[in-house]
Amino acid sequence: MESAIAPHLRCPRSQPARMPAGYTPPVPAYTARYAPGQTHAVMAYHGVQYRDLADREAAVAGLQTLRNAVHGADAPRFSDLAQYRDPEGWDTLVWTAYWSDRASHQRWQLHPAVQIFWQSDERLSGSTGWFREVACPGVDRFETLMSSPDGQEAVARLADAVSDEILEHAYWGGMRDRLPASQTDALTGATPAAPPTKPRPGQRVVIEGQHNMALIRSGQNWAHTGGVERERYLGEVEPVLREGMDFLSSPQGLGVGCLFNRYLRVLDEDFLPMDKSYGLSGWRSLAHMEAWAEKHPTHQQIFGSFMGMLQAIAAPPNLRLYHEVSVLQAGDAHFEYVNCHPGTGLLRAAT
Ligand code: HEM
Repeated sequence: MESAIAPHLRCPRSQPARMPAGYTPPVPAYTARYAPGQTHAVMAYHGVQYRDLADREAAVAGLQTLRNAVHGADAPRFSDLAQYRDPEGWDTLVWTAYWSDRASHQRWQLHPAVQIFWQSDERLSGSTGWFREVACPGVDRFETLMSSPDGQEAVARLADAVSDEILEHAYWGGMRDRLPASQTDALTGATPAAPPTKPRPGQRVVIEGQHNMALIRSGQNWAHTGGVERERYLGEVEPVLREGMDFLSSPQGLGVGCLFNRYLRVLDEDFLPMDKSYGLSGWRSLAHMEAWAEKHPTHQQIFGSFMGMLQAIAAPPNLRLYHEVSVLQAGDAHFEYVNCHPGTGLLRAAT
């Protein structure tokens, strides 16, 4: 058993932890370990939205152009594909790419093959909208949690290794306690600045992330489940997860501090659905995210149905869960929407 905070990122606390004294977690969990030389991670969500199935082919072709734009040292180290339908009825394909350092992502983004595609006037017209949402947190400003020590997903794939069983989990506040920066920083959200104005069709809208906005990717992998566990997951847990995701995507979600939310199905290389999903959401602050997870009925029901499933199977689950949470400094995030409808991503928080 070890602390979730890697030895080279530990320091004396000036901020209290919420972990109770003498605590031992009831179940195992693990975290990704990064090489001490790694200072940042880059997570870049590239999305294309379309309303008419006839536009899917062009959307896929565009994403493939981005995916194949750069080979060699500046290409992303890992990437994955996913899709969702947003509350306005637009289908959206998302290619998420990960880099271990900011400079190689910058070079990738400035590469002519990427620039020509992204800056083309063709992106501004027609029936598809494009976005890129990029977060580059320092290693002290994100944490990962996984229920299994193998099969890493998302930013954990950039890791050097996986920890032994960790201490700080399975109690409310565990997420904050795992964040190295929380040892000395309350990570308070900024007072909202003037929100961006609603875009008109054809516009390119750039929004810089507010200081200490929080981002979560919370993933589920049911590929290895069977029998009662699979029935309970798909019949009882998944429907309440979907309800929670619908709540966060609705205007009430904005009311609890969720700036945007998506519930995505992971796709394979042929753009076919896999037995994996994830929720991705941006929040005004870590405290808003914590309050929803701990106190709101929608996450309580997700949590409760999951506990019910564990009791019913009475054996270690084959369902794999993971999450990654970042608290972004001003300058760590960049959001860009091109020809997108006004409910897309951070635009929904616009006036
Ligand atoms: C099947 C889906 C889900 C299940 C079974 C689930 C269950 C849990 C559990 C067991 C914990 C405690 C984790 C630990 O520290 O060991 C937790 C924490 C948390 N969950 Fe979920 N969850 C699910 C989906 C989500 C989604 C989609 C989100 C957000 C979009 C979310 C947000 C959070 C947050 C922010 C925490 C951290 C709370 C804290 O440590 O203060 N969860 N969840």
